Amino acid sequence: MCGIIGYIGDKEANDILIKGLEQLEYRGYDSAGIAIIDNNQIRINKVLGRVQNLKQRKLIGNIGIGHTRWATHGKPSDRNAHPFLDQRNNFVVVHNGIIENYLELKEKLRKEGITFTSDTDSEVIVHLISQNYHGNLKEAVLKTVKELIGSYAFCVIKNDWQELVAARNGSPLVVGLGKDENFLASDVSALVEHTRDVIYVNDFEIVKIKKDQVKIYDFEGNKKDYNIRTIDWDLEQAQKDGYKHFMLKEIFEQPKVVEESIKIKFGLKKEYSRIIIVACGTASYAGLVGKYLIERIARIPVINETASEFRYKDPIINKNDLIIAISQSGETADTLAAIKLAKEKGAKTFGLINVIDSTIAREVDDVVYTRAGPEIGVASTKAFISQLVTLYKLAFYLANKDTESDDQLKRLKPIIIEALSLNESIKKIAEQYYTHSNFLYIGRNLSFPLALEGALKLKEISYIHAEAYPAGELKHGPIALVSEETPTVAICPQDQVYDKTRNNIEEIKARLGKVISIATIGDERIKEISDNIIYIPKVEEIFYPLVITIPLQLLAYHIADLRECDIDKPRNLAKSVTVE
Ligand code: G6P
Repeated sequence: MCGIIGYIGDKEANDILIKGLEQLEYRGYDSAGIAIIDNNQIRINKVLGRVQNLKQRKLIGNIGIGHTRWATHGKPSDRNAHPFLDQRNNFVVVHNGIIENYLELKEKLRKEGITFTSDTDSEVIVHLISQNYHGNLKEAVLKTVKELIGSYAFCVIKNDWQELVAARNGSPLVVGLGKDENFLASDVSALVEHTRDVIYVNDFEIVKIKKDQVKIYDFEGNKKDYNIRTIDWDLEQAQKDGYKHFMLKEIFEQPKVVEESIKIKFGLKKEYSRIIIVACGTASYAGLVGKYLIERIARIPVINETASEFRYKDPIINKNDLIIAISQSGETADTLAAIKLAKEKGAKTFGLINVIDSTIAREVDDVVYTRAGPEIGVASTKAFISQLVTLYKLAFYLANKDTESDDQLKRLKPIIIEALSLNESIKKIAEQYYTHSNFLYIGRNLSFPLALEGALKLKEISYIHAEAYPAGELKHGPIALVSEETPTVAICPQDQVYDKTRNNIEEIKARLGKVISIATIGDERIKEISDNIIYIPKVEEIFYPLVITIPLQLLAYHIADLRECDIDKPRNLAKSVTVE
């Protein structure tokens, strides 16, 4: 998490850095700061809160760095906001990642007379660079990285030096190439306004950037070749288009996304005896739908693993396992680590990734892009539906049923549009429930992962406590929570477990619980046991998850909106989690 940016050229750096940080704010937004060199003096503007707070001051100069923070070490405050200066105010650093040996380094530096001005792990970097500097900034960075343990992308500038120098080990970094100006950022979204030509910096590389020159070195100081890539991004996709929030816009983009994701083609072999899906957050719930689908359609056993657990449990990985990473950003630290581990153990790795050329996309043996387009809202919506479509396609592909399934999938776009027309009626239901403090979500079979995703959406953006359970598991504990004050969202489409889920709803009603049912249009029987019903269009049983996704997202959205929450940037969250 955290976003970093750098500029060197002939233009004023101030606005370029601030605009770039606004694009990177999805990575963290508890404080922000920039540093610009003005006549051999480093000037800093850093503040608690959002990037826009930086606009109250304007710094002068053509070389600068910036940062938007998601706190790991040290609470959000002006003092802990980046950038950080060394004691003589000659060097200034921004950092994304975690320096794991910072306490040790801090202790050592303190003994050498350094006074720290923050509680962060990051500040050690600037003091080390300052100590290691003997006339050459790149050499100082080379020495410094040898002392650091952890993950990082950092960038340093010096008061009288016409260069940005940055290093990467585990956190994303990309260079943007301009004419007589160059840029550096955590991801391309901050660069697209200025250039389409980029260089992805790899782990264990140091990059030295002048306004008309870029050089890359390994951590031993050897010069390395690099490839310039052209990015294919549409800046307009990153605008709100009249919607109140990006999240709502992205929910309404889903028919188009489904249409795009259906076009995905696989080149994968079909020889795997087992599949392990690794992912985090919403992507992991898509993965769980994937398990139900692949096992049911292709009859290949699938294990779902939360990436952060998988990486440390000494997992059993066989050579003929296929390890699938699902990730919107392609940067999630735990998912990346899980993939690296699987590769070490000789398994084949495959990525279902949204962001093109992201770190995981480049790490896996084989990748398909899920084609959701840039997703700005921190709570994932259209990326989720694109992951689902990709998993349907994969399940049918592995079962050699791709052609027939494509026809079925193509019929889904108008159905998703129909589901979106529920928006107003869902808003009315939200008006009835938005003051509640707790929610339960239940579903069986393919609807269970949807219950998990629905509850996650609600808690992420409305801060309401929500728990999801397999409907059959309700009586083993969570039914104790049922009361008039704790409504249940019951996902009960007309599928093979309809009667079973219905019984569970009866159990809730018998205990005076309020029930919002998500049911198939025409289901009259559900009326007897529901306080509210969201009727979804009828589809073939296996496709219900795609349709159910829509009302779950809209319900969470409207509840959060009525509570006046910061929907696109919910408190404490970040969209791209590049620390573990
Ligand atoms: C964060 C985001 C979630 C996302 C998860 C995994 O927690 O807030 O929306 O689902 O990371 O991210 P990924 O980019 O790997 O899909």
